[in-house]
Amino acid sequence: MSIFEWDIRAEKYDNLEWTNRDQYMEKFLKICDLKSDFQACDIGTGTGIIAQTLAHYCKKVNAIDYSESMLNIAKKKRGMENINYKLMNAEKLEFASDTYDIVTARMCFHHITHQEKAINECVRVLKPGKKFVISEGIPPPGTRKFYTEMFKLKEKRRTYIIDDLVELLENGELRNITIEIHKMPCVSINNWLANSGKDKATCKKIYDMHLDCEEYVKKAYNMKVLKGDVFMDWLIAIVSGIKP
Ligand SMILES: C[S@@+](CC[C@H](N)C(=O)[O-])C[C@H]1O[C@@H](n2cnc3c(N)ncnc32)[C@H](O)[C@@H]1O
Repeated sequence: MSIFEWDIRAEKYDNLEWTNRDQYMEKFLKICDLKSDFQACDIGTGTGIIAQTLAHYCKKVNAIDYSESMLNIAKKKRGMENINYKLMNAEKLEFASDTYDIVTARMCFHHITHQEKAINECVRVLKPGKKFVISEGIPPPGTRKFYTEMFKLKEKRRTYIIDDLVELLENGELRNITIEIHKMPCVSINNWLANSGKDKATCKKIYDMHLDCEEYVKKAYNMKVLKGDVFMDWLIAIVSGIKP
């Protein structure tokens, strides 16, 4: 996705109900295993949801994004004394090597053009012995084709499965890789589409694609059709690795 597309999405991003689910955040935080003296870096921070969450438990958070519109909302809604929001590309971090006690990246890597550059940068700025935590949506087993085709209507992005995420971290020379898969129940497709920044016609196509998908896809997503909406259980991976 281009920076311009994020400008369009920024205004409604925080209405996305999935972004603030408690159980997901709880698992994410547990994996981060924060300490009060930590210096943290949040990559692709968007409107600052993760940055703000980290900032409650860390000494200092530097949060970067390449979309000024997303950052403007972060600064306005989630400004805290110990958060510094910076306009920066994840592929070229303007931080010294071995700086951070933790680097996080939630739902950002699938948008990054050169993911190898970005992972190398994330690892470079991490102190040895410290953790990188990435979180990405993944298709339920057997639904990769549906997932990829459906997202083609929505945006230019990468589809990850767990193996891809592990490979990404391994290519970044991270060790002690852990994998947690979080099932996020009953996500409303109407909420997701209404706040996607897409035009009505595209939203309708994506909605219909869900309604019309094959039975095995419906089953894999535990899909429910109710009151003019479609509800699905999403799978979200939280993968971490340590810099040697
Ligand atoms: C789906 S949003 C996720 C925002 C936030 N991490 C969250 O979980 O709510 C993806 C964000 O990644 C940012 N992004 C994408 N590619 C980037 C890059 N190369 N460098 C910095 N930010 C990037 C976008 O601008 C957007 O704000």
